[in-house]
Amino acid sequence: MDDKPLNAKRTGDEKGDTRSSTQPHSEPKGLPQKAKIEVKHVILVLSGKGGVGKSTVSVNLAFALANHGKNVGLLDLDFHGPNIPKMLGIEGERAVAFANGMEPIHVTGNLAVMSIAFLLPDTSTPVIWRGPMKMRAIEQFLSEVHWGSLDYLVVDLPPGTGDEALTIAQLAPNVKGAVIVTTPQDVAVMDAIKAAKFIEKIDVPVIGVIENMSGMICPHCGGTINLFSKGGGEKAAGDLGVPYLGAIPLDPEMVKAGDEGRPIILRHADSPTGKAVDTVMENLVRLVES
Ligand SMILES: Nc1ncnc2c1ncn2[C@@H]1O[C@H](COP(=O)(O)OP(=O)(O)O)[C@@H](O)[C@H]1O
Ligand SMILES: [Mg+2]
Repeated sequence: MDDKPLNAKRTGDEKGDTRSSTQPHSEPKGLPQKAKIEVKHVILVLSGKGGVGKSTVSVNLAFALANHGKNVGLLDLDFHGPNIPKMLGIEGERAVAFANGMEPIHVTGNLAVMSIAFLLPDTSTPVIWRGPMKMRAIEQFLSEVHWGSLDYLVVDLPPGTGDEALTIAQLAPNVKGAVIVTTPQDVAVMDAIKAAKFIEKIDVPVIGVIENMSGMICPHCGGTINLFSKGGGEKAAGDLGVPYLGAIPLDPEMVKAGDEGRPIILRHADSPTGKAVDTVMENLVRLVES
């Protein structure tokens, strides 16, 4: 695609507005201002590696928080692999831009979602942007999307320690901290620790560590198979001196849920995996709101 951020479908009264709200304004100058978004707690979901389940955890945490009665926004900042819409079964949706901003996609009455995917012509169009373009898009996602008054904004980040995390940490108000998602094995834990140290360096506290894909219950014999080892998340939390938020099992239903666009917290709320997500969410809420 070209290098214009947020080239959304536009409707509404645009009279007198010669500058598209979806076009880049000038490059930000000087120290960045905090964006205008009404939110009590911004939670960044971060990992050192791709494929460890950040997007899955983001979607399920957002739903669990919404089920808990919170007003929740879910912001997909993975410009190069925006998976959140697919995981919610809303990949066909397109955001509508008005002269004064943009409407997020409302999944339920108290869960709204924004992703670059809602602004692309189709699911196979890549985003080829340098850092400043992403920065401008993130600023627009925060300031120009009609989020309403949020209790939580859950931010799904791309893997690693790049521009997106730096920018959201600078621009979002009330960033309560980051949750680090890791799988249990040493190679993932090593990178998770690096991601945690990166985010702490830019003055965002680590709220805690989640161990995802932690043990699988064999559907045949009921025994546990520790495919990716076990305990790495808890160990990482210990090494970092931050809370351990809990483990989410490796569960084939989780893959199905992601592919079919209906999060496991909705499909199988009472399964061990559904309950594990709830426990992680409750631990998070306790830490953030206490
Ligand atoms: N606990 C889990 N059990 C089984 N599969 C999982 C689990 N968590 C994530 N997955 C699957 O792993 C893949 C990668 O997950 P994803 O959330 O996209 O990772 P990331 O956002 O970190 O790149 C997806 O297919 C997802 O459904
Ligand atoms: Mg992802």
